[in-house]
Amino acid sequence: MVKYVIGGGNRLHGEVTVSGAKNAAVAILPAALLADGPCVIENVPQITDVTVMLDIISELGGKVRLLNRSTVEIDPRGVRNLRPSYETMRRMRASYYALGVLLGRFGSAVVGMPGGCDIGVRAIDQHIKGFCALGAEVEVNGGYIHADTSDGRLHGAQVYFDQPTVGATINVMLAAVLTEGMTVIENAAKEPHVVDLANFLNTMGADVRGAGTDVIKIRGVERLSGCNYSIIPDQIEAGTFIAAAAATGSEITLRGVIPKHLECITAKFSELGAEFRDDPNDPDAIVVCGPQKIKRINVKTLPYPGFPTDMQSQITTVLCLAEGASMVTETIFDNRFRYVDELKRMGAKIQVDGKVAVVEGVERLTGAPVRACDLRAGAAMIVAGLCADGVTEIEGVSHIERGYENFVEKLRGLGADIKAVTLPDPEVLQEVG
Ligand code: EPU
Repeated sequence: MVKYVIGGGNRLHGEVTVSGAKNAAVAILPAALLADGPCVIENVPQITDVTVMLDIISELGGKVRLLNRSTVEIDPRGVRNLRPSYETMRRMRASYYALGVLLGRFGSAVVGMPGGCDIGVRAIDQHIKGFCALGAEVEVNGGYIHADTSDGRLHGAQVYFDQPTVGATINVMLAAVLTEGMTVIENAAKEPHVVDLANFLNTMGADVRGAGTDVIKIRGVERLSGCNYSIIPDQIEAGTFIAAAAATGSEITLRGVIPKHLECITAKFSELGAEFRDDPNDPDAIVVCGPQKIKRINVKTLPYPGFPTDMQSQITTVLCLAEGASMVTETIFDNRFRYVDELKRMGAKIQVDGKVAVVEGVERLTGAPVRACDLRAGAAMIVAGLCADGVTEIEGVSHIERGYENFVEKLRGLGADIKAVTLPDPEVLQEVG
């Protein structure tokens, strides 16, 4: 067991390079199994969600080779297994992309229900609706999703989502690229990782148009070939560093980012007083300068290009130190304020009523022992620890390591006082005792 120990109050300074995007990587890696030759994928973040996805790919029969710390080769030619193990599937949310890939390539699959962060009801009805529209018969039974086709393949169709969903948009894209005919996804998710997947599929020879808009059109092709591809930088990792700079009143430079993808985040942080500027020598960088005084603002999470739900806990943490009361409304997930009780241990004044949190600014947060109850909640605890007076100890950091590469090292590089401490295994202690 590991915990993070943070000595709060240090100003951050210097620069940090943002890693590849988690939510793009967990879609693009399994998508490589649709090709008929090896793909080399660069800018893959070293995080546990990626490790789990590579385990799923290996279980299916894909051959995974790490070429260097951020480059993976995937050879799909040995894929035979259409039933990944239940245990591996429930280790993460994005495991359900195995279903889209297997259905698209073989017309049949049996996969366990996905796991992932406990942030509210995470239905898969829109995924199932999409697969059924393409001609699959889908049944959820005994914890498994069984999907099959009568003639061994899917057929292009129109799919209309009830609401924009990243997971279902990606899953239907994966299922449809090798399908006969044209698939049209209406009310599609527009997140940068949806566009990144479309670009990857097109590099393999697919015909996907419109990604990044509400309507994605996919003309099925006979085959896809291996390719080289580099994953986009992680918008949310960059946003978390922005939150850290805002909370500590620091100036830092983020390198390796796509500034356009950050606009939905920088717009809100500008409102609370942070300043942003370009680096004239590096188009892939932005400089963030935290405010002297944090202004109160209202925030509402929305699908892209709205303010991302994955940044909600971090901006709420910054608003704990604002002058006046802010209102944060979560519209995507129904249980994404669980971290608030942890922030209260540090002196935050927040009232949650359903989807709305009212955050009354306080002079300071004070260090305390807290828990990371999910990935982004953990990121919020780190932001809180960095700006708090005294020492913050964060447990449950395995959640954080699912989605942030070398977070402790990167923050130390920016001058933060943070270290990972390995705790003795309680079971071993019990045996000894
Ligand atoms: N929804 C349904 N039915 C479905 C699918 C989704 O009702 O079949 C609902 C969800 O309950 C939610 C909304 O639609 O209310 C949006 O869910 P979406 O499908 O977009 O979320 P997801 O695919 O489960 C991905 C990211 C999340 C991120 C959300 C929203 C991955 C692996 N996960 O989840 O990332 O919060 O999109 O942007 O891409 C994270 O990185 O911390 C994280 C949770």
